[in-house]
Amino acid sequence: MKTYHIETMGCQMNERDSETIAGMLETHGYTKAGGRDADLIVINTCSVRENADNKFFGVLGQIKKAKESDPSRIVAVCGCMMQQEPIRKEIQEKFAWVNIVFGTQNIAELPELLRRVESNETARRRAWHTADDMPEIVEGLPAKREYAFKAFVNIIYGCNNFCTYCIVPYTRGREKSRAPEMITREAGDLCADGVREITLLGQNVNSYRGARADGQETDFPELLRMVAGTPGLERLRFMTSHPKDLSDRLIRLYAELPNLCPAIHLPIQSGSSEVLRRMNRHYTKEGYLELVRKLRAANPAIAITTDLIVGFPGETDADFEETMDVIERVRFDSAFTFLYSPRSGTPASGYADQIPEEVKHTRFDRMVARLNEITLEKNRAYVGRTEPVLIENFSKTRADMLSGRTPGGKLVNLPAPESGGAELIGRIVPVRITGVNTFSFTGSLA
Ligand code: SAH
Ligand code: SF4
Ligand code: F3S
Repeated sequence: MKTYHIETMGCQMNERDSETIAGMLETHGYTKAGGRDADLIVINTCSVRENADNKFFGVLGQIKKAKESDPSRIVAVCGCMMQQEPIRKEIQEKFAWVNIVFGTQNIAELPELLRRVESNETARRRAWHTADDMPEIVEGLPAKREYAFKAFVNIIYGCNNFCTYCIVPYTRGREKSRAPEMITREAGDLCADGVREITLLGQNVNSYRGARADGQETDFPELLRMVAGTPGLERLRFMTSHPKDLSDRLIRLYAELPNLCPAIHLPIQSGSSEVLRRMNRHYTKEGYLELVRKLRAANPAIAITTDLIVGFPGETDADFEETMDVIERVRFDSAFTFLYSPRSGTPASGYADQIPEEVKHTRFDRMVARLNEITLEKNRAYVGRTEPVLIENFSKTRADMLSGRTPGGKLVNLPAPESGGAELIGRIVPVRITGVNTFSFTGSLA
């Protein structure tokens, strides 16, 4: 039996692509192996920040040894980095031993590329295929899912927003929505197969416009309502939602759909309306605060999480204080924080007023410290409550501990029962929260 090993470096969309790649490889006769001694190594890359690029070249350097120890081993690289010509050139020049290169738009072609390499049809056992933007979505590819009880479902591919800092529109092509019937069928099949939680995926789910077979169009709120009705579906989530397109109809669904989790990831990026304008985000600080007000009016318990970028070109001290002010006003449940990273090919990388590294770092440290304090303060309110927790797995560090998530998405660690606890994985159980810190809760079966 030939074996494969996939390393996934990017976001949820990247992870979902890896599930498709795994599904195709299994159909092609490969079985999953534990590590880099596999016959086929696939690296699924991310390019969103510079450290992602650097990490990839570090991994390639390490894999070179595995390749040298057994030259028959096949190495394939794919994902967002492969959509960029300078990266492909670097691989061509410095890592010519890489066998297969394919882009985010060419996943369906992997079996054919692999066949050509395996049969030594190509010069130096190399098969490359990348395309800038494919016009059609390829449906019906197999997938090997990471979890039995929760799943990602793509609803829209690509991005049309061109935020001035972001590489994604260049690596994922233009927006393409899947037909609603395809999505509801996939959700139905997943739930029939034991899935309890579905996360609908897209760079901006609010732009979803699916063409129905009857010629009508389905938008995101309507799709959410359709998917929420899937028999057996207990938790529905989605990401990511762009503030500029978050509609009142969508917000109302938080008060209406019982299985829509009380959680939203709503990246603000900056609290300064001027910075937001130069980021091409199409909303203001006030507009964002208004969305938060409406969301909390629809469901006071909703967990609001966000992404923040520090040190966007031209960010003044006053701009940064606006971000700190938004943090005080919203009190995010948690936040992903990033130092602005110039991506070549994006408009902002060419802006003259880049922020010095030490200024970025000083602002970043202050911001993260305050965000963490607020997260901890908010978490404390959960002590003593009983929450329904979807048990996901055993704790990474302790075999006698289970971990899972609340409807709001908080991570909970709890002692496994006498029986061992494996039977609880994939089930939603009441857990009494006994303690909290910034990044997780501790609890006990109620
Ligand atoms: N489509 C999602 C974001 C995908 S990228 C959205 O619009 O919300 C995830 C996050 O990476 C972004 O929200 C942003 O905060 C961060 N990011 C993207 N490009 C970046 C860059 N050049 N430097 C720093 N952070 C960046
Ligand atoms: Fe990037 Fe903006 Fe598109 Fe998100 S919406 S992927 S941040 S361009
Ligand atoms: Fe990275 Fe591509 Fe996702 S750049 S964040 S893997 S869309």
